[in-house]
Amino acid sequence: MAKVEFYRHCLQEEDISAVAEVLRSVFLTTGPKTAMFERAFAEYLGVKHVVGVMSCTAGLFLSLEALEIGPGDEVITTPMTFIATANTILHAGAKPVFVDVEPETGNIDIDRIEAAITKRTKAVMPVHLYGLMADMHKLDALCKKHELFILEDAAHAAEAVRDGVRPGNLGHTCSFSFYATKNLTCGEGGAISTNDSALNDKLRWLRQHGMSKSAADRYTGTYQHWDMIGLGFKANLNDIQSAMLLGQLPRLDAQLKRREAIAQRYEQAFSKLANVQFPRVAPGATSARHLFTIWVPPARRDEILVGMQTRGIGVAVNYRAIHLLTYYREKFGFKPGDFPIAERIGDSTLTLPLYPDMSDEAVDTVIAAVCEVAR
Ligand SMILES: Cc1ncc(COP(=O)(O)O)c(C=O)c1O
Repeated sequence: MAKVEFYRHCLQEEDISAVAEVLRSVFLTTGPKTAMFERAFAEYLGVKHVVGVMSCTAGLFLSLEALEIGPGDEVITTPMTFIATANTILHAGAKPVFVDVEPETGNIDIDRIEAAITKRTKAVMPVHLYGLMADMHKLDALCKKHELFILEDAAHAAEAVRDGVRPGNLGHTCSFSFYATKNLTCGEGGAISTNDSALNDKLRWLRQHGMSKSAADRYTGTYQHWDMIGLGFKANLNDIQSAMLLGQLPRLDAQLKRREAIAQRYEQAFSKLANVQFPRVAPGATSARHLFTIWVPPARRDEILVGMQTRGIGVAVNYRAIHLLTYYREKFGFKPGDFPIAERIGDSTLTLPLYPDMSDEAVDTVIAAVCEVAR
């Protein structure tokens, strides 16, 4: 048993009761609870529409499908992310084009995007890495100039704000993850936000086989025939998941305060260590503080990782640069040196435990272990 686990969710008895209430009802799939969650989450984000889906991966993929981005098209994204981001571009039949990241944050370097734009480029898929949003004002101006869509990956960043912008405020779509370790979780799940009503309508049929009516429409009240209006997928969020999410929303901001306090404690302690750097939160931004990663000398990263685990501290690596993973190397011929900043981060990064229910003692235990192991 780890002394400090890498992650613990903070679901409460009221969330369990909310799920039990759905289980005792008739309707288990996408129905009234999902509609309530979609409304509540849209309000939380300050966007017009939210469509509940089964994962952030499904959200990104359906966004590409909805905008008819596919074979022959290119989508610019970052190599410093979870593979899901770039994989969805491949699943849509398009080509992911990587652009290197900022050395201070690990986020896509927007100043490098213009050089990667070709006549095939249709969209940019920025990732708000670890909880810090990419500079959306700058990206928005660039994408308007080149008539590109913005499909945000906000798997890490539901609570984030930067320069007055929230995830989903400027992107054509924005996808969220409710995976087991995310700040807002139902084990597996996701959502897409959009301010475009036509896109909202399309995403709704895309998540449900292309059916013109949802299960709730078909079975509540009197039966109604449905049509298939396009070729969709099966990717809907269900009421069991939505019930779990609904109760967490009002607690998110208080939990963010605790996340921030822990992150600041880490930052204070590690500022004193020559061997330990960490990504910076841009001035004026509120990070969702999803992951706290440190950057240690690449030659020592794996030894430090093992040292932490040996001391009973759960750690992870978020992420090794995608373009150097076997599949991407073999498919596109990528090699070391192609995106040097992402590679350096990928070789030096180590993620420490960070979750609202972590005690101060647990935080001190992690700090002491880092000081000892990375010295
Ligand atoms: C940056 C990023 N994008 C996308 C995903 C995919 O999310 P999901 O597991 O909900 O499909 C993740 C999941 O960890 C992620 O970290």
